[in-house]
Amino acid sequence: MADGTDPGGVKKLFIKTYGCQMNVYDSERMAEAMGAEGYVVTETPEEADMVLLNTCHIREKASEKLYSDLGRLRPLKQAKPGLKIGVAGCVAQAEGPEILTRMPMVDLVVGPQSYHRLPAMVAATASGAKPVETDFPTEDKFEHLPDRKPARRAPAAFLTVQEGCDKFCAFCVVPYTRGAEVSRPVERVLNEARGLVERGVREITLLGQNVNAYHGAAPRALGGGDWGLARLIRELAAIDGLERIRYTTSHPNDMGDDLIAAHGEIAKLMPYLHLPVQSGSDRILKAMARKHTAEQYLTLVEKIRAARPDLHLSGDFIVAFPGETEADFEATLELIRIVEYGTAFSFRYSARPGTPAAEKPELPRAVGEERLHRLQALLGQQQRALQEAMVGREVGVLFEKPGRDPGQWVGKSDYLHAVHVTGDLAPGALRRVRITGSALNSLAGELV
Ligand code: SAH
Ligand code: SF4
Ligand code: F3S
Repeated sequence: MADGTDPGGVKKLFIKTYGCQMNVYDSERMAEAMGAEGYVVTETPEEADMVLLNTCHIREKASEKLYSDLGRLRPLKQAKPGLKIGVAGCVAQAEGPEILTRMPMVDLVVGPQSYHRLPAMVAATASGAKPVETDFPTEDKFEHLPDRKPARRAPAAFLTVQEGCDKFCAFCVVPYTRGAEVSRPVERVLNEARGLVERGVREITLLGQNVNAYHGAAPRALGGGDWGLARLIRELAAIDGLERIRYTTSHPNDMGDDLIAAHGEIAKLMPYLHLPVQSGSDRILKAMARKHTAEQYLTLVEKIRAARPDLHLSGDFIVAFPGETEADFEATLELIRIVEYGTAFSFRYSARPGTPAAEKPELPRAVGEERLHRLQALLGQQQRALQEAMVGREVGVLFEKPGRDPGQWVGKSDYLHAVHVTGDLAPGALRRVRITGSALNSLAGELV
């Protein structure tokens, strides 16, 4: 309909997702929850009856994005007063009602553990209320979300198995925005995974802020007790039709021997591991409250590579943490040289309100920028070298969507490289591919 509303009662929902994969998963679940209320997802805010911004609070830049995007939505809201604007996610949790004060155009604010209440909140806005839900509820949101619809979906999916974080690294807001660490029960995870496979999913990435600390209650039929991530992965690997399993993000201190062994034993567990270390300096690791040394991390990497020699490692790094000297930074570069990362994410330290590190004096911005530049140059070199080493090799590729050129398809390799291939393919095709070339952020290949 021209005005975006359908006489049959269908309303349109536009969701913008910022931040990590957990938010991507949450956005999908929120869309489903609103779907049960008659909302269908649209790709443009102009068409929408409701706009939901699923926000990230991890760094200042990420957080400020909410306010610039709200500013951009203002003319739309003025032209269409019936348009509802909701703020979800980690900024919603951190700032709560302050968002309404700063931006009166917002109709509701909902934190990441409360979004099962979204339909009731939206209903309340009809009478002019501006609900804010940012308590950590005592009930489990997953038990109050609608069952996932049997419609077909893209072949790779996320599945959140663990929420929150108890680690309280000195720089990080996640324990405050997501709350305490909670693992979902085994049975629920298995059911959701089976449901996804019935919808055409062939690859599942298990998610958690500390996914390798997973310890979910197992049903009596499966022997009861608490299962760790390795045991869960073994059970998932037995699901027919599920071909690939990944997990992210892992903390080095939770990388147990059973999980390391799983990398050598379970063929469906893909040879890629995101294992952030943040810094290579013991002094800085201590100040960050990471609770391990650089040496312990390197020993761990050796053990993992002994179990799965071809595994690609990825990591996260923070430069210019308060008090970081040039020698500390050099230690980080040295650690990177030893590990050789396939990919990595690196950030200049950003002081976050309420975290212990934010009390300490910051380094000059230029120092951080210069270090980030040097760090990224080294990581870029490693990424290119590892990509080039793939040329001539044969890898599995799960195809997801058509590429830019006619006849071209794009998918992900076992090692999570984007690979493009020309051929008669379809979404969900899992094929062997010979890598023929390496570009900036992707590989080219041909079907074997
Ligand atoms: N649970 C994961 C990290 C989640 S946050 C872990 O422990 O590794 C994702 C990444 O954002 C972190 O690994 C860190 O590198 C970065 N990050 C978090 N807080 C930050 C801050 N205050 N400034 C800069 N980078 C930050
Ligand atoms: Fe943040 Fe540390 Fe928890 Fe990761 S482990 S989410 S960096 S507090
Ligand atoms: Fe951002 Fe929240 Fe994820 S702060 S990184 S969206 S857990």
